[in-house]
Amino acid sequence: MNVLIIGASRGLGLEFVRQYRAAGARITATARDDAALERLREHGARALKLDVADAASVSGLAWLIDGERFDVVVINAGVLGARTDGLQTPTAADFDAVMHTNVLGPMRLLPQIAEALAADARVAIVSSQMGAIAGRSNPSNWLYRASKAAVNSVMKDASLALAGQATVISFHPGWVRTDMGGAGADIDASTSIAGMRTVLASVKPADTGSFFNYDGRRLAW
Ligand SMILES: NC(=O)c1ccc[n+]([C@@H]2O[C@H](COP(=O)([O-])OP(=O)(O)OC[C@H]3O[C@@H](n4cnc5c(N)ncnc54)[C@H](OP(=O)(O)O)[C@@H]3O)[C@@H](O)[C@H]2O)c1
Repeated sequence: MNVLIIGASRGLGLEFVRQYRAAGARITATARDDAALERLREHGARALKLDVADAASVSGLAWLIDGERFDVVVINAGVLGARTDGLQTPTAADFDAVMHTNVLGPMRLLPQIAEALAADARVAIVSSQMGAIAGRSNPSNWLYRASKAAVNSVMKDASLALAGQATVISFHPGWVRTDMGGAGADIDASTSIAGMRTVLASVKPADTGSFFNYDGRRLAW
């Protein structure tokens, strides 16, 4: 199996690398700094330098993966931005950082990745339940929520554009103990990634455009 993980320096991305590697997959993984790139090589991955918020950096991806045919692609890179609990207007810089990383990044990556997919490929965007609008009960982190709602829309359009070529889905990975999720989160990264790998292995073309919890449960938008 040939796997591409975007945003794999730590947290969920690095755990995707660990688990797919342990399962014998060939891995290409991206990170932003040299120490993380070295860490990825130590885990047996081909390591590529990539900042998803930097147009020039992302535009270089196509030739770096030229000739590859990926069975699984995971767009994992994401940022939370400033934590808020009400109507605190984000600064323009914070808005740009969150939206460029979480939304524009995938919109720049997906066209390039589309050229490097194996038959019956699976493409996943790591989104968040915080992006779901139905059932929302508090207004915390409204910029992050808006970015994850937006990237779910991006995923849906990608699923339509790539119909017949790839099964495209988004995930809520659970509330996971990472730098972003914090030490008090519900589950560890190992559980989250094992669940998402099981979903990726079992989805069918008819599932394209769906939003899944890490345990395979379908989520409402
Ligand atoms: N943890 C949770 O409970 C939780 C819940 C729901 C959704 N998520 C989502 O899951 C994904 C991974 O989260 P995590 O918990 O593993 O967070 P994390 O520990 O904060 O890791 C974030 C990852 O994204 C990378 N990244 C951030 N900005 C980037 C950029 N501009 N270019 C390339 N890579 C970039 C980071 O790389 P650097 O090391 O270079 O910063 C790091 O590898 C995110 O999309 C997040 O929104 C997490």
